[in-house]
Formats: sequence, C-alpha cells, structure tokens
Amino acid sequence: GAPVDVDISKLEDGQLLTVNWRGKPVWVLKRTPEMLATLDKVESELRDPDSNESIQPPYCKNNYRAIKPEMFVAVGVCTHLGCAPLFKPDPGDADLGSDWPGGFFCPCHGSRFDLAGRVFKAVPAPTNLEIPPHHYRSATLIRVG
Ligand code: FES
Repeated sequence: GAPVDVDISKLEDGQLLTVNWRGKPVWVLKRTPEMLATLDKVESELRDPDSNESIQPPYCKNNYRAIKPEMFVAVGVCTHLGCAPLFKPDPGDADLGSDWPGGFFCPCHGSRFDLAGRVFKAVPAPTNLEIPPHHYRSATLIRVG
C-alpha cells in the first residue's frame, strides 16, 4: 500500500481527522494540554501502560505514544474484533460515566481506550490500539506508511 500524506495545518485543538491508509482508518488527533494531562492519571487503570505488548514504532514508545506529544496518530480499529471505536473526548461523558477521563469507546463489546489508544483493564480488547509507521515531512505534513 502507498503512504498517505496528511495535512495537519488546519487541525484545531481537540480535533480528530480520519484518513484511509491501506484500507484502514487512521486517526490524527491534535490533543490539548488537558487531554495530555489525563494520560498520566489513568496509568494504573491500563492493561499495558508502557505498550510493551502493543504494535507501535519504536519512536512512539513513550507516554504519549507519539512523535510530538500533541499529535496522536493511530489505526482506528479495535484490537478485539476490529470494530471502529468512537471518539469520546469529554471527561464524564454521559454514556460512559463520571469517572470517564476521555478516550475512545468501542460500541461492539465495550472496550475502552485512553487518549493515547491504551486499553483499560477488564475489557475484551487484548492490546492497545496500533500506531502506524509515520513521520513528519514538514511541520504541517505527516506521512503515514
Ligand atoms: Fe471492539 Fe469487540 S470489537 S470491543
């Protein structure tokens, strides 16, 4: 499959863009400082907080799972049975409960992921969401693949 270039110049804080790469949806989310602050808080609730058992390039093996902390790039496919998780950024989302920190929710069997795509404990998905290979061609252009 060919690589895909994503123009992020118009992406606003908190906005999620979806592009198609090799027939899969790839998300590009511009995380706000508030979103980034949730990542440390949820660590004890995660199955694989350091992503030791999850698919990601070595340059994303950090707390943000990203090259630049604010810019999250991930394959938007649930690691359970392949459904499309929903973007649920609002803390205390009405459907997900007052302790929801913001993240992604898979409607098929209820898997929950934080805003770095890391899976919470006690849900069906076995691993964190996949991070695809990508790099910056310029400050505003990400090449996926
Ligand atoms: Fe996402 Fe089953 S496919 S929880």
